[in-house]
Amino acid sequence: MSGTTEAAVQTDFVFVPRAAEIAREAGARLREYFIAGVETEYKGDVDLVTVADRAVEKLIKSRLGEVFPEHGIYGEEGTRERMDSEYRWYVDPLDGTTNFAHGFPQFCVSMGLEHRPRGAKPDDDGMLVAGVIYDPMRDELFTAERGRGAQVNGKPARVSRAAELAEALLATGFPSRKRHTSPNIHFYHEFTLRSHGVRRAGSAALDLAYVACGRMDGFWEFNLNPWDTAAGILLVEEAGGRVTDFAGAQYRLASDEILASNGLINEELIGLFSDMFAGRNLSPIPTAEEFARARNNRERGVANSQ
Ligand code: IPD
Ligand code: CA
Ligand code: CA
Repeated sequence: MSGTTEAAVQTDFVFVPRAAEIAREAGARLREYFIAGVETEYKGDVDLVTVADRAVEKLIKSRLGEVFPEHGIYGEEGTRERMDSEYRWYVDPLDGTTNFAHGFPQFCVSMGLEHRPRGAKPDDDGMLVAGVIYDPMRDELFTAERGRGAQVNGKPARVSRAAELAEALLATGFPSRKRHTSPNIHFYHEFTLRSHGVRRAGSAALDLAYVACGRMDGFWEFNLNPWDTAAGILLVEEAGGRVTDFAGAQYRLASDEILASNGLINEELIGLFSDMFAGRNLSPIPTAEEFARARNNRERGVANSQ
């Protein structure tokens, strides 16, 4: 069940109102490109990029510079502005590029704001203080500020109440680089057999936003980047959920693993990760060859009995 309620609320968000205007403008631009159709280029073997990714990052960079001239910006398409600032925006102008390029309408703009204490070293994490994710195809705006809660289109967002993996709907994603070195399909297999299912919808930021508003109960992925996760992490935490690595340690923006959930199923998920990394308690399924052999034997048996 979704965790949103009907009552609209007044908030005292500080950064979100102006950041949300920028995300809406950026999203409207993405929508126009999506409807018009765009050429696709390759950044890696299946890592796609389009004119929309670049143009919308440029737009966000310019708008953020006007509205928050003191803030730094770290964007997926190469923006590195004022990197020694006390505040830094992590920007993914288009999360879900593969979907976008194929005409599959699941993608968003993601902007997460980190407060970095003065004197922080380049690798130190600051504190996430604001997050905005905008899905222009559904006109859904997911927002959060540290200590001030999370919202979907201005209404409070809460994580789900699913208490067990067996009743959970999960999400994950797969890398578009070095695909042959990712073990995630094994986790996909195991989690699928133990839950209501695993969705691979193609936008990590929306996956996190969906955990925050109770549409999904948990999400995990390997090797995401801060521009994918910064806004969504704060959304999940402010909606009452938990974000860790696969061993339950506090998530850092540089972490190679992210596990986000409603908090209630976190321990069970961490236990399963631990079992799987140790090769314990796996649920076997037939290989394609074993399946084909059994199917052929069955067909032969039917033919012989006729
Ligand atoms: C990708 C999406 C996808 C995730 C990939 C990301 P992009 O971001 O978030 O869901 O599985 O790992 O790279 O490239 O579309 O911005
Ligand atoms: Ca992304
Ligand atoms: Ca992107």
